Amino acid sequence: MAVLKLRKYGDPILRRKAEEIRVIDEEVRKLASNMLETLKSIGGIGLAGNQVGEAKRIFVIDRTHIDGEEMPIVLINPDLVESSDEQVFEEGCLSAPGIYEDVTRARKVKVRGLNLKGKTMEIEGEGLLCRALLHEIDHLNGILFIDHLSTIKRKLLGKRLRKISENQ
Ligand code: NI
Repeated sequence: MAVLKLRKYGDPILRRKAEEIRVIDEEVRKLASNMLETLKSIGGIGLAGNQVGEAKRIFVIDRTHIDGEEMPIVLINPDLVESSDEQVFEEGCLSAPGIYEDVTRARKVKVRGLNLKGKTMEIEGEGLLCRALLHEIDHLNGILFIDHLSTIKRKLLGKRLRKISENQ
C-alpha cells in the first residue's frame, strides 16, 4: 500500500468528469487500497479518484469518523438513486485545505454502485454519511463543494483558493 499525492484546488483533474471503470482488476483493487491508505494518513472522511490523480469513477469513505463503523465504503461507478429532504452543514474538502463553509444538500440519499468484487451495492445514508456520498459523487463529476456556494461567498474565498492553487 502507498500514500498517494493529493491533488488540490486548481489542478485540472479535479474538474474532469471521471471515467467509468469497465473492469475491476488488480489495478483497481490496488488503487482502492492506496486511496484508503491515503485517506487514513490524512484522517479525512472521503476521497475520490480525481483527488489522487486518477479520473476514474471510484471513491472511498472512512466511516469511523461518521458512525464508528470500521468497514470503509469503496464504491465503483456510483449512481444517485434517490435523495430527499434538505440539510445545511459545514463542509470541507481535502483538496481545499482550511476552507469550511455551510453547504445545502439533501439529508437522505440512496446510492448504487459496485464493490471491489463487482457486486452491486446499495448504500443509504443520512446526515453526515449522506453529505459524504454526495460530496464524493460530485468529485467524480468535476464538481467541488465550493461550487455550491453563492457567487459572493466564492468571491470572498478567492484569495485563499488562489493560494491553494499556487501551492500544489
Ligand atoms: Ni472533497
